[in-house]
Amino acid sequence: MSCDFAKIVSTGHVTGIDREQSQIELARNRAEEQNLNNVSFQVASIYNLPFSDCSFDVVFAHAIFEHISSHDKVLKEIFRVLAPGGLAAIRSPDWGGFIVVPDTPSLQSAIQHYAELQTANGGDIHIGRKLPGLLRAAGFEALNFSATYDCSLSPMIIAEYLALPLVASDGEALREWGRHPDAVFAQAWCEILGSRNA
Ligand SMILES: C[S@@+](CC[C@H](N)C(=O)[O-])C[C@H]1O[C@@H](n2cnc3c(N)ncnc32)[C@H](O)[C@@H]1O
Repeated sequence: MSCDFAKIVSTGHVTGIDREQSQIELARNRAEEQNLNNVSFQVASIYNLPFSDCSFDVVFAHAIFEHISSHDKVLKEIFRVLAPGGLAAIRSPDWGGFIVVPDTPSLQSAIQHYAELQTANGGDIHIGRKLPGLLRAAGFEALNFSATYDCSLSPMIIAEYLALPLVASDGEALREWGRHPDAVFAQAWCEILGSRNA
C-alpha cells in the first residue's frame, strides 16, 4: 500500500513504519523492485513515532488498530505528527457480522478461538465501529465514516490463517470448509477520515 501511495503522490514522500524488521525488509524490497525513490521504511512503534511535530500531511493506519490496546495514545501521536489541516485515515475490521457459507461448527469455533486470542493479546475485534468516537475524543474532526464488506481473500487462505493457532484436527476440519466449492467468507471493514484542524 505504501508503494501504491508513493506512485500517487509522486511529488511527495511516503514513510512506512512497522515494529517488525521482517515487514520493513519486505516493503523495502518491493519498493526497490518497482524503482520507487520517494518511499522509505523504518522500524518504529506506532506508540512512539520517531518524527517531528507537524511533519506529515496524511497518516494512514491500516489493519493495526484492532491489534493495539491504547488507541488514545496512538491517536495522540498521529495528531502530533500531522500538520494543521492534515488528515488521519484509519481502516480496521469489525467482527460484528461475518457472511459465511457454509456456516459450519468448525468455522464458528475457529472464529471464536481467534477472537479470544486477539482479545487476550490486548486487541479489539469490534474496533471498527468505535473509530468515530475515538477520533472525536482525540481532537479530530471526523469527516467521513464508512463500512464495507471485503471478500478479496479466498476461503482457503482464510482457512489457513484461522487454522494457525488450532490443534491439527481442528485445522483440518477448517481446511475442509475452505475447500468447499461454494465457500464464502466476507468481513466487515470500517474506514474513517479525520482532520486535524487545530
Ligand atoms: C495485520 S498486520 C497489517 C500490516 C499492514 N499495515 C497492512 O495493512 O497490510 C499488523 C501489523 O502491525 C504491526 N504492529 C503491531 N503492533 C505495532 C506497533 N505497536 N507499532 C508498529 N507496528 C505494529 C505488526 O508487526 C504487523 O505487521
